Amino acid sequence: MTVSTVRCDDPGLAGRPCWPLRGLRITLAALAVSALAIATMPPAHASQELAAKSGCVACHAADRKMVGPSYKQIAERYKGQADAPALLAERVRKGGKGVWGQVAMPPTDPAKVDDATVRTLVAWLLKAD
Ligand code: HEC
Repeated sequence: MTVSTVRCDDPGLAGRPCWPLRGLRITLAALAVSALAIATMPPAHASQELAAKSGCVACHAADRKMVGPSYKQIAERYKGQADAPALLAERVRKGGKGVWGQVAMPPTDPAKVDDATVRTLVAWLLKAD
């Protein structure tokens, strides 16, 4: 990666030390990278709250069956299935029926719960154990 174009013999530096500049650039680049990593990580700790806000908790709980299956049961069933996140996000969005029993899951209103939130919730509940 090209971190800095400032060279120590750069006349523009006019005798100022060049290494702190270079060091600062590297630090800033590193900070930017870690900030990006944090920003793109799914907020796992926030997801219980997100499930409550999105209305999932009316029918789902982490480890006991309610109206719908528990997150644990769902995680177990789809373990190792590569297309599970996309499949389940679609079911949450459009509603689902006949997979777990007679009771259907109603569609989730995009005005209340957007696609990114659905994906975050599905990724989170698939990790339930
Ligand atoms: C009104 C009750 C209700 C609400 C609200 C609800 N669910 Fe469900 N959910 C169900 C039922 C019932 C099933 C089982 C449907 C079936 O048998 O196919 C289910 C199934 C699921 C499944 C598994 C789907 C499958 O095909 O295996 C996931 C994942 C899921 N729900 C996530 C969510 C999330 C996330 C939310 C909140 C945005 C939510 N649910 C809100 C009742 C609900």
